[in-house]
Amino acid sequence: MESIPHSPIPRHGLARDEVMNQLQAMKEHDQDWRGGRVFSLVYSAGDEVHELLQDALSLYSAENGLNVLAFPSIGIMQHDIVRNTATLLGADDPASGGAVEGYLTSGGTESLLQAVKTARDVARKDRGIARPQVVAAESAHAAFTKAADYFDMELIRVPVGSDFRVDVNDLADACTDDTILVVGSAPTYPHGVVDPIAEIAALALERGILCHVDACMGGFLFPFLAELGRFSEPFDFRLPGVTSMSADVHKYGYASKGVSVVLYRTHELARHQLFITSDWLGGFYASTAMAGTRPAGPIAAAWAALMHIGHDGYLELTRTAHDAARELRTGIESIDGLEVRGDPPATVMAFGATDPTALDIFAVGEKLSADGWYLDRQTRPDSLHATVHAGSAASVPFLVGDLRRAITSAGTQRTENRSTTYGQSR
Ligand SMILES: Cc1ncc(COP(=O)(O)O)c(C=O)c1O
Repeated sequence: MESIPHSPIPRHGLARDEVMNQLQAMKEHDQDWRGGRVFSLVYSAGDEVHELLQDALSLYSAENGLNVLAFPSIGIMQHDIVRNTATLLGADDPASGGAVEGYLTSGGTESLLQAVKTARDVARKDRGIARPQVVAAESAHAAFTKAADYFDMELIRVPVGSDFRVDVNDLADACTDDTILVVGSAPTYPHGVVDPIAEIAALALERGILCHVDACMGGFLFPFLAELGRFSEPFDFRLPGVTSMSADVHKYGYASKGVSVVLYRTHELARHQLFITSDWLGGFYASTAMAGTRPAGPIAAAWAALMHIGHDGYLELTRTAHDAARELRTGIESIDGLEVRGDPPATVMAFGATDPTALDIFAVGEKLSADGWYLDRQTRPDSLHATVHAGSAASVPFLVGDLRRAITSAGTQRTENRSTTYGQSR
């Protein structure tokens, strides 16, 4: 094994204070998201909500979400979370067919893995398709590639246009007799733009294929933006062709990490996600998603977030984050040589040089990092990526100021470091 310095399990356990001191010391090298300078990975609704999340996490630190017979309260909470998410995504509207149901998962990736696997199993059973294909824009989340890899399926990636949205005609051209699922994102992770979901859903309906709307990022944003009169595109189960959706409570639901929801239009589709076996010596085993043992703390924290923040609270958090995202966008667009990629309607955006030969946005990014800002980097084209949330809203004017200075100071410098790593590889 590679020799990375590590702390061996001590022969005699350390005192509680000592352990906590060591944890605090290790944490000093982490991003300080509380300072509002982290525009990735963390979604904060403020200290008060954070304390509630911590209390809920610790109340359920030992319970196991595998078995809701032993812990019925976990079953109640997960039902509430799924039901409320479904309501936000149009499940109570007669146009949805009134039969939407779904499950909790550990995050957006798992929701997407499950949706793709469900589509595969439905296609095998109903259409006899042996090697199914998924058609998705190149902007759809990397988890679709992961799903195709895990479940031995083919993923056909379709290029996006200059507005970073996919054209439905290009998706249609990519579909074959083996296509079982077509994907739209609301919004896409890389540029925060929304695919033409109504057209994609209509395509799926016409071809008799399933359609997944990845609202991992937008599921807890667009319903509130719509209510604020700031978003009006249809994107959910009110569109007849939409057969499954994903929405992450641990993003704009402002919950602790570890909770997403995957929803299906009908009971028949949803039951394909269940795994049931008695083919071993341990009795009847049933699970609703990938994991067996599931941490109950995040479920309790997600339930607590929904109940404590409440509908009006989400409206206010959405307004705060969206106002700040608009301010960031205006700030970026007021700087010579910089542009926001596409037309992101919500709170996620990518920006970079209008002329990459004149300005290296990664060199600018390094200056911002040195000032304590945390933004992701991505390429094709080279861009910095910002996810604006309520907890980072107040920092936006300072970010714009530092961005302006970073551009002046970067001048024509180029950095050797072209890494765009998002995730981990060891
Ligand atoms: C649109 C979209 N889908 C899926 C995911 C994956 O979510 P997770 O990181 O919770 O697995 C993300 C994450 O940012 C996302 O933005």
